[in-house]
Amino acid sequence: MTTSRRDFLKTGAAAAGLAALPGIARAAAGSREFVLSAGHFEQALAPDGPMTDFWAFNRSVPGPELRFRKGDRVKVVVNNDLSGIDTTVHWHGLRVPNAMDGVPYVTQYPIKPGEMYSYEYEVKDSGTFWYHPHQISFEQVPRGLYGPLIVEEDAPIEVDREVVWVLSDVRVDAKGRQINDFGRILDIANDGRLGNVVLVNGQQAGEKVALAVRSGERMRLRLINAASARIFRLRLAGHTLHAVALDGQAIKPRELETVDLGPGMRVDLVVDFMAAPGSEHKVLDVDRRSRGQIARVSYLDDAPLRDKPLGAPMQLAANDLPEPDVAKAIDHYIVFEGGMRGSPVIGMIDGKPTNIQEIMEKEKLAWTMNFSAQHEHALLHDPLLYVRKGDHVVLRLINQTDFAHPMHLHGHFFRVVGVDGRPVVEQDWRDTVLMAPRQSVDVAFVADNLGEWMFHCHILEHAAGGMMGTIAVE
Ligand code: C2O
Ligand code: CU
Repeated sequence: MTTSRRDFLKTGAAAAGLAALPGIARAAAGSREFVLSAGHFEQALAPDGPMTDFWAFNRSVPGPELRFRKGDRVKVVVNNDLSGIDTTVHWHGLRVPNAMDGVPYVTQYPIKPGEMYSYEYEVKDSGTFWYHPHQISFEQVPRGLYGPLIVEEDAPIEVDREVVWVLSDVRVDAKGRQINDFGRILDIANDGRLGNVVLVNGQQAGEKVALAVRSGERMRLRLINAASARIFRLRLAGHTLHAVALDGQAIKPRELETVDLGPGMRVDLVVDFMAAPGSEHKVLDVDRRSRGQIARVSYLDDAPLRDKPLGAPMQLAANDLPEPDVAKAIDHYIVFEGGMRGSPVIGMIDGKPTNIQEIMEKEKLAWTMNFSAQHEHALLHDPLLYVRKGDHVVLRLINQTDFAHPMHLHGHFFRVVGVDGRPVVEQDWRDTVLMAPRQSVDVAFVADNLGEWMFHCHILEHAAGGMMGTIAVE
């Protein structure tokens, strides 16, 4: 029974905020308003380079940084100035009410060209988040529609400076124009569509992206992976990288050799820059598929700010997340199959039993979750599973494919409690977990947010190719 969705379709428009909601007092402390306009725009990837065509928020790639305080009441008005293209905005990682989640046909109707939609919600968690459309996201995100969303803590950890890097990529031709080859089955059924130019805050990654630092300074570096498919594995030789938050949620500070970031994921680092004034250091991506320089850390000649390192950073205050109790949780299994190198898959496609190998090319579907696949936000598809509000839930995610998948749940955070059937020590809170090929991962959460929530692979071509479903909390 898809009660929640049918109810939405009958009554959703008004309830979901299409009509103006009674106003929030603008002057009141803790309420903030922003306007995001999605439109067409051009930007050079390098200072001397040609112009690249983008779809972007407020004529900028990435879109403007939205900076909130924990506890804020926010209103973000989204204007759709794209020509002939519907869109929505999803607030990746924010625990918003279902109607504000920005998923077309599940939580709202798409925003038509020339129309606007008003998203209003309370910001429950501090941390590093981001926003992007959920409509044809495998095209709209790589076209440039994404931006950082930062929620400040009441008591932030002390650093000298904070820097946000939005990492992504773009596929362009020799003239710098975006190549219009979105949604090819070759990308859908493999590792996704990788761009040929990696971007750091909208600029071509590499030698020319310089992060100027002063010796002795302590920086909080917030990293966001907004690429549709690229998995980053970053390294900064000669420096100690302390992770203090994953997907926005505080962890006990942890030293990292490499920073692994699947699509959708975030990490907050605290870095003490203790090398000699005037020295240069490379930030490298050492992932086997990418391998390249991301940026250059360039020390100023100034006298060091301090001569001794500050020691390990303090732990950030935790957000108030409902603690899952694995002992009393209900277990649900979700099996993932498919892909170009996968075994033949028989599954339900939009509700009908089908041999996926036979329809792959034509239907552009290549993946199943629990032996079923659906086209993006297909209206008649049932949720993968139903749970009751307040249930403690363990999802056993069984990756029967030869590919990695960053699995993202909307509306909730989960703890990663097991890998390949063994309990893990640091049970990190995440909203996106990267499953390695053939790995199984157990995640636990309390289903405390009412509504129908997306659960999908954040390699956006995989999501489009069947690896998306919903979990209904009733
Ligand atoms: Cu970042 Cu369902 O999305
Ligand atoms: Cu995937």
